Amino acid sequence: MYIRFLQFSVCALTIVIVYGIKQAKNGNISLHKKINLGVLAITAVAVIGLLVTLGMGFEYKEMKIAESLLNIGPESMEQRILIHRFFSAPLFFALIVTAYSGAKNKVSLHKKSVKYTAFFWLGTLITALLFF
Ligand code: HEM
Repeated sequence: MYIRFLQFSVCALTIVIVYGIKQAKNGNISLHKKINLGVLAITAVAVIGLLVTLGMGFEYKEMKIAESLLNIGPESMEQRILIHRFFSAPLFFALIVTAYSGAKNKVSLHKKSVKYTAFFWLGTLITALLFF
């Protein structure tokens, strides 16, 4: 099921992105750029995959709560999706600002945007693991 695949790949990507941030902290900026650009490229593929499944007519709100991985959250799947979107939609824009500022060496903007990216990334990951 695509949703399980997404859950496990985002967990794996989180480990890789933390490792990528550690490289920046250690001053290894060139490795930091390579790793985090790789993570962003994979994330873009995952988002496109999600859009393709939507285009194919898959109704995510029809997912059964009882079939969720951890199943912790509101009783209504529509409400779960809404809460998840509260994190995932801003994450999309935060990632763009982080990648743009990193690529353009706008260090102060990069460091500021990283805080938002981290917050919305974790919110997206946690709600996805609890709800779906
Ligand atoms: C979601 C993706 C990313 C995250 C979470 C992230 C996070 C960070 C963090 C936390 C730092 C600061 C390290 C410190 O305090 O010294 C940093 C520095 C830096 N990042 Fe990123 N980064 C991301 C993507 C990128 C990308 C895509 C690029 C470029 C293509 C990039 C380029 C840089 C550069 C050049 C610095 C060094 C700034 C300096 O001179 O101190 N980053 N990044």
